Amino acid sequence: MKILFVAADPKPERWTNLIQQHLPDAEIQVWHPDSPSCGADYAIVWHPPAALFDKEPQLKAIFNLGAGVDALVKVPNLPRNVPVVRLEDAGMAVQMAEYVAYHVIGITRDMDAYREQQTAGQWKLRRPIERSDWPVGVLGLGHIGQRVARTLAGLEYPVCGWSRSSYAIDGVRSFAGEAELDGFLGETRVLINTLPLTDSTRDLIDYSLLSRLRPDAVVINVGRGEHLVDEDLVRAIEEGRVTRAVLDVFREEPLPTTHPFWNMSQVSITPHVSARTLREATITQIGDKILALEQGQAISGIVDVQRGY
Ligand code: GLV
Repeated sequence: MKILFVAADPKPERWTNLIQQHLPDAEIQVWHPDSPSCGADYAIVWHPPAALFDKEPQLKAIFNLGAGVDALVKVPNLPRNVPVVRLEDAGMAVQMAEYVAYHVIGITRDMDAYREQQTAGQWKLRRPIERSDWPVGVLGLGHIGQRVARTLAGLEYPVCGWSRSSYAIDGVRSFAGEAELDGFLGETRVLINTLPLTDSTRDLIDYSLLSRLRPDAVVINVGRGEHLVDEDLVRAIEEGRVTRAVLDVFREEPLPTTHPFWNMSQVSITPHVSARTLREATITQIGDKILALEQGQAISGIVDVQRGY
């Protein structure tokens, strides 16, 4: 079986060695735009060029090296009859939960203020946390959103979740669909975005949505930059509707040095690291799925390309 690895990684051998270990009989190649077609059976990709699909018409499946397939499904000649498979968790959900919990705890427990007090040599107790003052709302209840919601519910924050269809998750109030978005926002002070990026979720977090959150809102975006209308968040912060924002993903990455977010004390920025793709877990998952397909078995994680996730 032939496998083509297609990702702009300066050290692709870090991936291909692992793939080879997992699938000793496979013939593995790294994509190069000038190489002739290798007749690949499977492609393992991250942000692939359209040329890939013209050159490799025999693909039996396309594996995305990430949970979000937004970059892949917008490639115009993505073959419609070939399964597209996304990463399912693969060690990412726990990292996201940890990242979000770290920030929620830090904000609600006033950790920045204690740091400042330390700098000023001040011993001063701040008000203890009232969890009912910090209701959390998680947008998106896929593998990642569910893990985030469960983690915060475990810490006894009031937690709501919103997604396309309703989910039964212990300790989490589920809201579903457009009709229940308002109800969800009205219950939410700490908004956490884990949605997939699709035509219906792009620009969802705009001024109108931010205005419907509880007062002194907090926004944590670990989905995609295109979910958030940047200037609307800036406005909501300037007006004091949103008091803190934690942003890990941006419309343009790296975030341009001239972007206003850099200089806003209310905004915490990280460079798309809330959940790193873990090579071992990723290749184990993809390798197992390739073996299953070769044996004619069904696999999970197949994307509905039309729907976009
Ligand atoms: C990363 O952003 C991913 O989609 O896995």
